Amino acid sequence: MAPLPPDLDAVIERAWQLTLRTDGFLGENEARFLGMLAACVPARGTIVEIGSFKGKSTVMLAFVAARYGLGPVVAIDPHTSPCNTDPGISAGSSTFEEFLASVKAAGLTEHVEIHREYSREIAKRWNRPIRLLWIDGDHTFRGAKEDFDLFTPHLVKDGVVALHDALNAFEGPIRVFVEEILRSDQFGAAGVVQSTAWGQLRPEDGKEFRELRMRIERRAQRMLPFVANGRRVQGLRKMAYKLARSRVPRAPISAEEWSALVSRGCTE
Ligand SMILES: C[S@@+](CC[C@H](N)C(=O)[O-])C[C@H]1O[C@@H](n2cnc3c(N)ncnc32)[C@H](O)[C@@H]1O
Repeated sequence: MAPLPPDLDAVIERAWQLTLRTDGFLGENEARFLGMLAACVPARGTIVEIGSFKGKSTVMLAFVAARYGLGPVVAIDPHTSPCNTDPGISAGSSTFEEFLASVKAAGLTEHVEIHREYSREIAKRWNRPIRLLWIDGDHTFRGAKEDFDLFTPHLVKDGVVALHDALNAFEGPIRVFVEEILRSDQFGAAGVVQSTAWGQLRPEDGKEFRELRMRIERRAQRMLPFVANGRRVQGLRKMAYKLARSRVPRAPISAEEWSALVSRGCTE
């Protein structure tokens, strides 16, 4: 297991203070977890963010990546509306200026590679290895699956894919997590922090983590009927949905615990 950076807690705390000032959709536990992933995923390659909105997760990722010399964060978002995750944004408006302002205010302009386009467009010419793939764009099943399918072929061994809003009422992230990560021996350790679901690509020994993934799968798959076909979760169904969700383990995990978990079975 690679040693953790000794100043990791302080770096994530500083990153969180900047992230906190940025408008967007990311809870504290999952933001800190994302920062930990940026620092600790034991692989080489790019950090790719699909869905930047006003830059909240971008700031967390880019601050940590900059601190540890891990290269710019590739931030992909057309910044157009309407958008299925943000129905409040009026048609024709854009989040691009606010995104630029957030990144600038955090002093991270040089540490973000901006692509103002749909993920499927950049996917056509993408050829770089990815060590952390953060999917927070189109939350429909079609959209999340498309992002997963187009970008995970570039995920390096031991790299991590994380999906936001897996435990919020969207069909895409939870279905991709259950069907493509938890049920696949291509992936090793997996889990959820707050509403962020993640899995580590382990094509050689993923089956050794099958029991761990199946334990989560048994609980997470109960959420699928509630969001099937993009259905809205309302009324009494909402209570049942919340009950199913409460059974999915989603507590924060420390960098030490996470690194020990993904190091299982590693010979190095
Ligand atoms: C939930 S927001 C992202 C939140 C952001 N990560 C944060 O921390 O606040 C979703 C964003 O995904 C973008 N989006 C939707 N479909 C997309 C696609 N196919 N490719 C890239 N971005 C997309 C939207 O424009 C929107 O800004």
